[in-house]
Amino acid sequence: MKARIAVIAGDGIGPEVTVEAVQVLRAIGARHGHDLELIDAPFGGIAIDLHGDPLPPATLELCRGADAVLLGAIGGPKWSAPQLKVRPEQGLLRLRRELGVFANLRPVSLHPALRNSSPLKAEVLEGVDLVFVRELTGGIYFGDKVRSATGASDLCAYSIAEVERVVRVAARLAMSRRRRLLSIDKANVLETSRLWREVTERVVRSEFPQLQLEHMLVDAAAMHLIRRPRDFDVAVTENLFGDILTDEASMLAGSLGLLPSASLGEGPRGLYEPIHGSAPDIAGLGLANPIGAILSAALLLRHSLGLEREAAAVESAVAAVIDQGLRTPDIAAPGTSAASTRACGAAVIARLHD
Ligand code: IPM
Ligand code: MG
Repeated sequence: MKARIAVIAGDGIGPEVTVEAVQVLRAIGARHGHDLELIDAPFGGIAIDLHGDPLPPATLELCRGADAVLLGAIGGPKWSAPQLKVRPEQGLLRLRRELGVFANLRPVSLHPALRNSSPLKAEVLEGVDLVFVRELTGGIYFGDKVRSATGASDLCAYSIAEVERVVRVAARLAMSRRRRLLSIDKANVLETSRLWREVTERVVRSEFPQLQLEHMLVDAAAMHLIRRPRDFDVAVTENLFGDILTDEASMLAGSLGLLPSASLGEGPRGLYEPIHGSAPDIAGLGLANPIGAILSAALLLRHSLGLEREAAAVESAVAAVIDQGLRTPDIAAPGTSAASTRACGAAVIARLHD
């Protein structure tokens, strides 16, 4: 097949992990006879430096015209002073909104060989395999932000339609797994959460009657996620809760650096990014884990290009590399020598099979 992929590597460790994911895509293209056109564009802090805008019009146009977008990470101390008016994060939020990618899938599973990399006990982690579906283009992230001499406010708003569409994505996913859907909210306090709960009930009961639906308050969910993570399967939640809970959930897999994400809208075009940040403290040192970025490329192959076999080949190559013991510092076993970002990417490519 022929596809055009926008590559917006961004800041910090973004470029070095993204280049590994790009190499994997090139290798997949070559092995399976796909013509994958990968086009780089500035985004985030680097785009502020170059163009005064974290999402320059040409980058947005490229992303709109692409079949998929592969993103690295954005931000860093240079662009985070509180008095700055233009921030890299604004570009990311605008891109998500402009592309209409309202459902952010964040799968978390534990590779058995990494059970000792997590700060949690191995027996608690056994069999963890869950997916968060985070609403991505609404809620407090996008409501009016006001600052006055005496205070500040951020509006959290959701429309019925915004809740319905993300719940449908989560429910379809749950149907393909254990047929259980957990909806996380704060309905004991927030009006938006009461709406969320009502809409979720209605959509699931009427359109997915085979699903077992459960509601949980976000504070309890934060606790149960580390107390009994095996019980989680598909969890759907609003933007801010999803942001927080997925960083927490990443510890179940052993490292934030391992986790990919797919942001999807109504059509096949998606935005794919590791869930980690730009980690400016280790940028350029070859210490970053490229697996989150590489697995994001696998999700891109699956969800935007419909290349399931190729996606699975990337995922099993990653699993083989972890099994073999080749690991970046974040997941290296104590006393073993860690591999570089580059070496990890190269090892994944070496294990791609047909
Ligand atoms: C994420 C990140 C972003 C978010 C930041 C960089 C704006 O934390 O993708 O989880 O909060 O959505
Ligand atoms: Mg986050």
